[in-house]
Amino acid sequence: MTSQTLREARKYEESSEKIIRKEDRPAFHLSARTGWMNDPNGFSYYNGKYHMFYQYHPYDANWGPMHWGHAVSDDLLHWEYLPAALAPDERYDKDGCFSGSAIELPDGKQLLMYTGVCKERQSDGEIREVQTQCLAVGDGIDYEKYHNNPVLDEKDLPEGASRYDFRDPKIWRKEDGTYCCVVGNRPADGSGQVLLFTSQDGWEWHYKKVLAANNDRFGKMWECPDFFSLDGEWVLLVSPQDMLPHQFEYHNGNGTLCLIGNFDERTDTFTERHNQSIDYGIDFYAPQTVLTPDGRRIMIGWMQNWDTCGHRTANILWFGQMSLPRELSIKNGRLYQMPIREFDALRCGKVAHDNITFSDTIQLEGIKGRRVDMELNIRPADGRELYQKFAIRFAQNEQYQTSLSFRPRESILKIDRKFSGSRKAIIHQRRSKVNSEGGVLKLRIILDRSSVETFVNDGEQVMSAIVYTKQAADGISFYADGTVTIDVVKYDIME
Ligand code: FRU
Repeated sequence: MTSQTLREARKYEESSEKIIRKEDRPAFHLSARTGWMNDPNGFSYYNGKYHMFYQYHPYDANWGPMHWGHAVSDDLLHWEYLPAALAPDERYDKDGCFSGSAIELPDGKQLLMYTGVCKERQSDGEIREVQTQCLAVGDGIDYEKYHNNPVLDEKDLPEGASRYDFRDPKIWRKEDGTYCCVVGNRPADGSGQVLLFTSQDGWEWHYKKVLAANNDRFGKMWECPDFFSLDGEWVLLVSPQDMLPHQFEYHNGNGTLCLIGNFDERTDTFTERHNQSIDYGIDFYAPQTVLTPDGRRIMIGWMQNWDTCGHRTANILWFGQMSLPRELSIKNGRLYQMPIREFDALRCGKVAHDNITFSDTIQLEGIKGRRVDMELNIRPADGRELYQKFAIRFAQNEQYQTSLSFRPRESILKIDRKFSGSRKAIIHQRRSKVNSEGGVLKLRIILDRSSVETFVNDGEQVMSAIVYTKQAADGISFYADGTVTIDVVKYDIME
């Protein structure tokens, strides 16, 4: 039975979506059908299609009582909106259906596991949001909330674990058929931890153990965990709040963290070996992964960050978009990300320039646009000494530009969107240390109207940022302080 709250949301989104012009949205990134979008939820392959749900407030381009928006796709690039899947319409989730995940049950139904948020007066008189884990089951369009919700609440928490920061279940199934989920939580030390729960049937859940503890190392509370095996290793993704910077690896505020290690499935013990950021740009948070039918691990993140939500255009009817789907792999103990290979089929109008040597600013024939996939090989010019700086400027006209600049002596790649038209004094630059020897660097830069995703050295690092510059600013130019040689291959992207 669909509730009145959900029916209203479905009616509203259907009419409101019509007012949004297609050309005001990204072309190949999923954006909010209407209103506000944050985290990807329930990213799954079900009944022959990819499903993406998302944190959703249809009535406003600002965060509000969370619903789950819903879209499906055959290739993860072209999305079709479906009616909103969940609304905050029960006692235990009346203040929001927060993030969660999806899995197919043996009977062919799809199970959604999400966080129910309910404001309650506490014994000290204060009103606080209590978070519990809840289930809904459905057919890929309509979902019914489980009559025994919540299935995990404070009774299931270990000593000292907060019931106010207990959210974002990510569910998976072990080979032996049992279900597991990881949930973000705040232990007594006030930082973060990931809790592991198990279930025989997906409906009745039990606490197992602390899978990973932050111990105040990476920010505070850990949000949106995801846990999976990849290339013989185990990977735990989390999005920590309140980070402190660490060199160029981690930055202040909301960040992303990838822990790589071993997982002993018999004892459910995760042993960390390596940590790194997931994305080194400005706008990326709360990623979630799916395993494709052909065995690839694909990740999509919210291409936005809580700290930069003030960076927006006026009078917008939607806010929030997802990143490109990225194929994950592990090489030399590091997480690598590349645009999903299906993306190559959208490329057209190839323009290539080889061995272009320049000092100062140049433009290249046929290189411009705001829906672009561009590969750049950068190196010092033959026989010349190491250059000081290389930059590519895009979303450019007389007034605006966004740039990626590289200083080989420091090995620092910087994204800078301060001249992109923003009138807000929020973060518009980020620097990242990259691997480069002798000034050689490889970049793949993907623009989609209001975003830039830069894949460095074949996916060794990625930097994502939102760029709301007017579309008329579609110039691209190259700059060198010193003498640089580049090869450029550029494609336009079909709608
Ligand atoms: C992360 C997050 C989640 C929560 C959701 C609420 O971005 O804070 O922890 O479930 O957003 O919308």
